[in-house]
Amino acid sequence: MALTGAELIAWIATVVRDAGGDRTRLLDIAEAVQARCGHVSYEAIEAMATALGLQPVEVQDVVSFYAFLNQSPKGRFRIRLSKTPVSLMQGAAAVARAFADATGAAVGGTSSDGLFSLEWTSDIGMGDQEPAALVNGTVLTALRPDDVAAIVAALRSVRREAVTPLFPGRDVVLPHATVRPSLVQGGPVLFGDHGRAGDGLRAALSMSPDQVIRAVSTAALRGRGGAGFPTAMKWKFCRQSVSDEHYVVCNADEGEPGTFKDRVLLTELPDLVFDGMTIAGYALGATHGLVYLRGEYAYLFEPLQEVLAARRAAGWLGTGIGGHTGCDFDIRIQLGAGAYICGEESALLDSAEGKRGAPRDRPPFPTDRGYLEKPTAVDNVETFACAARILEHGAAWFAGYGTRESTGTKLLSVSGDCACPGVYEVAFGLTIHGLLDLVGAPDAAFVQVSGPSGESLSPKDFGRAIAFEDLATGGSMMVFGADRDVLDVALQFTDFFVAESCGWCAPCRVGTTLLRLQLEKILANRGTLTDVRAIVALANTVTRTSRCGLGQTAANPILTTMRNFPERYEARLQPEDFVPRVTLREALAEAVVVQGREPVAEAATA
Ligand SMILES: Cc1cc2nc3c(=O)[nH]c(=O)nc-3n(C[C@H](O)[C@H](O)[C@H](O)COP(=O)(O)O)c2cc1C
Ligand code: SF4
Repeated sequence: MALTGAELIAWIATVVRDAGGDRTRLLDIAEAVQARCGHVSYEAIEAMATALGLQPVEVQDVVSFYAFLNQSPKGRFRIRLSKTPVSLMQGAAAVARAFADATGAAVGGTSSDGLFSLEWTSDIGMGDQEPAALVNGTVLTALRPDDVAAIVAALRSVRREAVTPLFPGRDVVLPHATVRPSLVQGGPVLFGDHGRAGDGLRAALSMSPDQVIRAVSTAALRGRGGAGFPTAMKWKFCRQSVSDEHYVVCNADEGEPGTFKDRVLLTELPDLVFDGMTIAGYALGATHGLVYLRGEYAYLFEPLQEVLAARRAAGWLGTGIGGHTGCDFDIRIQLGAGAYICGEESALLDSAEGKRGAPRDRPPFPTDRGYLEKPTAVDNVETFACAARILEHGAAWFAGYGTRESTGTKLLSVSGDCACPGVYEVAFGLTIHGLLDLVGAPDAAFVQVSGPSGESLSPKDFGRAIAFEDLATGGSMMVFGADRDVLDVALQFTDFFVAESCGWCAPCRVGTTLLRLQLEKILANRGTLTDVRAIVALANTVTRTSRCGLGQTAANPILTTMRNFPERYEARLQPEDFVPRVTLREALAEAVVVQGREPVAEAATA
């Protein structure tokens, strides 16, 4: 039932009180308001601001940033369809049409009965089970147009009061909510046969914090989030940074299109990840840990809370962990709200503090000034799991897998044109050829390594190795067959960056849109060599002058396809003396009518 003005103010005051009146919990509070009211109205923003002692504009600034928070009413059921090259290859457009027909809502709109909103969203982390969608946070996978009528009928039959959510992601019970297990092949390090849960943590507690960091250093563990920074070095910097508090943050934002291996770890081995975080807490002298879980994985929130509760009950979280006096550590889960940029560690920290997820200037680095300005180690989900295994079995055992510069194994999320999509744990050093054999894609025409920010590889590069010294990757591997157009995929990835740019700096905010326009021109067979030179110059400017990693890699879909597939561009170019079909006068016709004056005459008087 809708709350009246006074009821809304009183209810929000309760929510804010439950959050300890803490301004850094603003994202949680806004998510609770959205879950209860369907949107975050200006009245709600004012009530939140009053209860938190903020200006309404400060609250609005945050609410307007996140794709999953809306300030105006949407349908009771908000259907978000995952839009990626893989989902489209597998029929997402037909599924979208079926939803539009069944609900009466156009894509991007709301049905006239107010029941349904339909929209595209960036990859929801179900690359092996596309086409996929979120319905009020509940995940539906492997959708076919024929399924849609029954799903919509089931939604129509849900009673209004049943929609009132208890918690984001738990608001509607759907008959077909399915995420099938994605692990196809486990490997020796993470998914092999191991001893009791908690063995790594027990081993760590029998050592000194310095010894723990030394073990991680000897194992040569490098961060699994993509960049491959040495984990022990990060932990050492953080530990050395003098402060009354240190923080351990697990980056579970997993927003890179094509990646879903962190979801699998959090589903299959959550205790191993929490062991790794607790080991880091012990090594750094931190008492607080935080998991930043992407909003698309809200359905994992409650199960993970249950794991944390069980760990508290067993003495593996809280005070005196494992009977070890002075070892105090607990973990909170912060839910994101649909922003890819929040995977960037400094943006993540701002978001976790209840602000817009805008990247920070660096230095200072998070190891000096991170969460709440305190020294913080931000590591990927898989990195923590690896650290726990290193402590469990020893550095030499871990370094026995992989290559000299890339020790251990890597989880790869494989999707696209292959017989067995899913998650594979492989030793570093595996070639792309080896991977394609493994996943059943002998005829792949190109492979996108590391999502849009990575590289499109042609078959001449399939002998290259997956390792930090050759193809560094966070683990996204999208496979494309011969009937796929690599430039069309590059355009979709460029679109992704346009949608996900946080807008802070002009090179990225404006540059990504200009890149898209120029690429569209070439794809429409209207470009010349001059356009290619212009697009390269622009791509280099965006790469060099953008403020953070998103903008610095946003031109990669264009630059890497130009490098690896030049013939695809050449085939679409017009000769330099090409006379465009559209004249300047025609292009400006509408403006001339609106302005009531001729551009030539204007130019002549200038
Ligand atoms: C735009 C952008 C998005 C990112 N998304 C993620 C992410 O989803 N998960 C992740 O672990 N790292 C992500 N990173 C890298 C993080 O900033 C950071 O390097 C990483 O969490 C460090 O953990 P690691 O050392 O264990 O790899 C992203 C970086 C950028 C620039
Ligand atoms: S590069 Fe893009 S994402 Fe990064 S700060 Fe600039 S606008 Fe934001």
